Amino acid sequence: MPDFLWWRDGVIYQIYPRSFADSNGNGLGDLPGITAHLDYLSDLGIDAIWLSPFYPTPDADFGYDISDHTDVDLRFGTMGDFDNLLAEAHKRNIRVVLDLVLNHTSDQHPWFLESRASRKNPKSDWYIWQDHIPNNWQSVFGGRAWTYAPEREQYFYHMFLTEQPDLNWHNPEVRQAQLDVIRFWLERGVDGFRLDVFNLYFKDAMLRNNPKKLGLRPFDQQRHIYDADRPEMIALLNELRSMMDSYTERYAVGETFIASPEKAAWYSGPGKLHAAFNFDFTFRRYNPSQFLESIQRWDQFASGEIWPNYVLSNHDIVRAASRYAKGEDDGRAKVVLAMLLTLRGTPFLYYGEEIGMRDISLKRSEILDPPGQRYWPLYKGRDACRSPMQWDDSPFAGFSTVKPWLPVHPNYATRNVAAQLEQPDSILHFTRRLISLRKEYPALQHGAITAMTPKPRKVLAYLRKTHEQTIAVVLNFSGSKESLDSAIQNSSWNLLLSSSTTVGNARSPLEPHEARILVEET
Ligand code: GLC
Repeated sequence: MPDFLWWRDGVIYQIYPRSFADSNGNGLGDLPGITAHLDYLSDLGIDAIWLSPFYPTPDADFGYDISDHTDVDLRFGTMGDFDNLLAEAHKRNIRVVLDLVLNHTSDQHPWFLESRASRKNPKSDWYIWQDHIPNNWQSVFGGRAWTYAPEREQYFYHMFLTEQPDLNWHNPEVRQAQLDVIRFWLERGVDGFRLDVFNLYFKDAMLRNNPKKLGLRPFDQQRHIYDADRPEMIALLNELRSMMDSYTERYAVGETFIASPEKAAWYSGPGKLHAAFNFDFTFRRYNPSQFLESIQRWDQFASGEIWPNYVLSNHDIVRAASRYAKGEDDGRAKVVLAMLLTLRGTPFLYYGEEIGMRDISLKRSEILDPPGQRYWPLYKGRDACRSPMQWDDSPFAGFSTVKPWLPVHPNYATRNVAAQLEQPDSILHFTRRLISLRKEYPALQHGAITAMTPKPRKVLAYLRKTHEQTIAVVLNFSGSKESLDSAIQNSSWNLLLSSSTTVGNARSPLEPHEARILVEET
């Protein structure tokens, strides 16, 4: 193992391409827009970007319904633009991770058009077809997971929208075609993949009914034992991993859909994926013992050769700053960012998280996301966390010269990259310093983690330790001044970073919602 491994020790930054930067004035972000901001990302200090889908798509699920896995949607650029982005990223030592949606395709994908056309065609068995609805399986986005196709007088299965039919991974030709997609991008030079809902690829061969349980939506009223996490997955992961390992330092992280941290750990490690997402943080309240419990649970499963990862925000959930911060104050957002970036595990940052972007609020008529349209007001969908990146205070936040596909947050005039670069105590500068500390101190990368207080009420404090270095991370989750843990009071520490501007030295009492990082004197 090298001393520094980008996907283990570095920081991965998720870009939702259509909302990052619009270079051609069509209201949608694009690949050249990303390339134009690589210097910004390099200054931020991140090690890799994960790009949400930019492939040709009819946009039923905003790019997660793909009609060609090996091309670029013209609205986002060309293959030439992609190659240029990749080369420019690599010049800056930024790795590129692609989002591959291999569980399903768009219903406009030529494979599905062919499969749907008749019962007798070379691709007739590439999707999951049945004469009658065989079971109680539900779609995540609402309604039954089976839709009738008159052309074949049969039903096809879709875990998500009707426009996203699931592929039949039991068919060896499908399996080969999907591995070819992976190979295509590896050969092109990409560094890794985020595998969309990978734990759904295989469904029970007998299509048995899922048992019932309590839950809100029909989908949640079932235990997903037959439509997810099937045993066939392991042999496939094995094959995929050996393919990845035949290239240098490539990486695959899986989106473990509806899965526990235990399950995520189970999918990770040698012969499996490099990592699988643990989303536990996204369910936690702003409370130190809640987060500590989550960290310890994960650290217990992710030991030895399984490397943990942490996520606070992504394109499917409310942004962390909207969940935890009060109004426009960034105190709480800085506390959770400091936590994310100092834990033992790969941190995933979501675009705009570094400037504390908040979710937008939308009227019902403005909702674009299909589950939001269906379940409003019970569930308002995922548009709110996908608003345009706020670069400056010009009209449309410097994202575009025309009205963007989703509204810009009204706070953009003050909350934007340009303004925060001018403010030494901004959340942007704080994030940059956190990332550079992580780079500078190996203890923050792979050092062991130990909690300093078992059941913290207000202050979460932990040590990150290698043989040579000890770092203390002290996070005050309360709105009051708090004293430092006696363990810290009794040794000699140097102050590395504080989110408060008024802290005198390493030992002064903690300010409300202060994040402080110390290094032990040697
Ligand atoms: C994943 C994606 C989500 C998408 C779904 C279906 O959960 O993160 O955005 O809607 O898969 O592809």
